[in-house]
Amino acid sequence: MPERGVEVLSRALIGCDVRAALAIAVVLLSDAGIEGASVDARRLLVHVLGARPLDLISAPDRTLTTSEAKSYANALLRRQSCEPVSRIIGVRGFFGRDFIITPATLDPRPETETLIETALAWVDANGGREREINILDIGTGSGVILVTLLAELPNANGVGIDLSAQALAVAQMNATLHGVDGHARWIEGRTFGEETGPFDLVVSNPPYIPSADIARLDADVRLYDPALALDGGADGLLIYREIATGIAATMPSGAVIVEVGAGQAPDVAYLLQSAWSKGGCSEARLVRDLGGIERCVAIATLF
Ligand SMILES: C[S@@+](CC[C@H](N)C(=O)[O-])C[C@H]1O[C@@H](n2cnc3c(N)ncnc32)[C@H](O)[C@@H]1O
Repeated sequence: MPERGVEVLSRALIGCDVRAALAIAVVLLSDAGIEGASVDARRLLVHVLGARPLDLISAPDRTLTTSEAKSYANALLRRQSCEPVSRIIGVRGFFGRDFIITPATLDPRPETETLIETALAWVDANGGREREINILDIGTGSGVILVTLLAELPNANGVGIDLSAQALAVAQMNATLHGVDGHARWIEGRTFGEETGPFDLVVSNPPYIPSADIARLDADVRLYDPALALDGGADGLLIYREIATGIAATMPSGAVIVEVGAGQAPDVAYLLQSAWSKGGCSEARLVRDLGGIERCVAIATLF
C-alpha cells in the first residue's frame, strides 16, 4: 500500500466523526467502482474501531483518533484495490460462525454452504447424529467445511488434509476457536495422503478452475486467493480424478460429497460413479446452490 496515499487520506480522516468518515469512505469506494461501497465502508469502520455495527448508528458523533484514521485509510485503500473486505479484516462468516482466513487460505464462499447442508441431510437421513462418524475433508484450507461439520455433529471425528502447511495451521486455529480441536486431525498431504480410512463421509471443495482460465478471473479472486486453491489442472477435474481413485480403497460404504464449478457436475458425477460402482453406490445426486447452479455432486451407498 503506497505510504503517501495512506498518509494523505488519514490526514483527511483525523478528527472526523463517524458520519463524516463514512461519507468520505463511500465516495472513495464508489469512485473506484466498488459495488456495495456503503456496506463495505461500514464493515471496515466497525473493524477499525473494534465496535459493533449498531455503534455506528448510536454514536455517529464519535471522532476518529489519529491511529484509527490511519488504520481506516489503510483499509480503504486496500479495498479500493479490489481486496475483499474479508481479506482485509482476516475473518469470513460461514454457516453462522466466523472463521480466520489468511493469504494461505481460500476465502470461503457462501456457495460452499450447499455442501454443508447436503452433508447434514445425509447424516440425518442415516441416523448419523447418534453414531460416531468419521469424516475426511480433502483440501481443507481454512478448515471451514470440517470445522463446521464437527461443530454441527458432536459425535463426529474428522481428518482435514491439505498440501499447504500454512493453511493447516489456520484450520487448527479455527478448530480451537470453535471448540472442536479434540475431534480433528490435520494432515499435510496430497488428496488422501497416507489415510486409509475407513471413512463414513468424504467431503471436498477442491481447486476446480481450469489452469488457463485463472488469468481471466476477477481481480478479487485472482490476486488474493492462493493459486494452489484455484488451479484444478488442464480441465479443472484433476483432483476429482484423484478422489475417484481413492474412494474405492477407503470407502466400503458411506457418502462422498464434493463441490464443483459451474458446468462440471455431470463429468464429476460420471467420474465418481464409475470409480465406486463396485461398492454398490447410489446414482449421483446433483445439488443446486441458491443461484440455481449445480454446485455439489453427492454419491452414497446408503441414501
Ligand atoms: C478451493 S480450496 C478449498 C478450501 C476450503 N475447503 C474451503 O472450502 O474454503 C482448495 C484447497 O485444496 C488444497 N489443495 C490443492 N490441491 C490439493 C491436493 N491435491 N490435495 C490436498 N489439498 C489440495 C489447497 O491448498 C486449498 O487449501
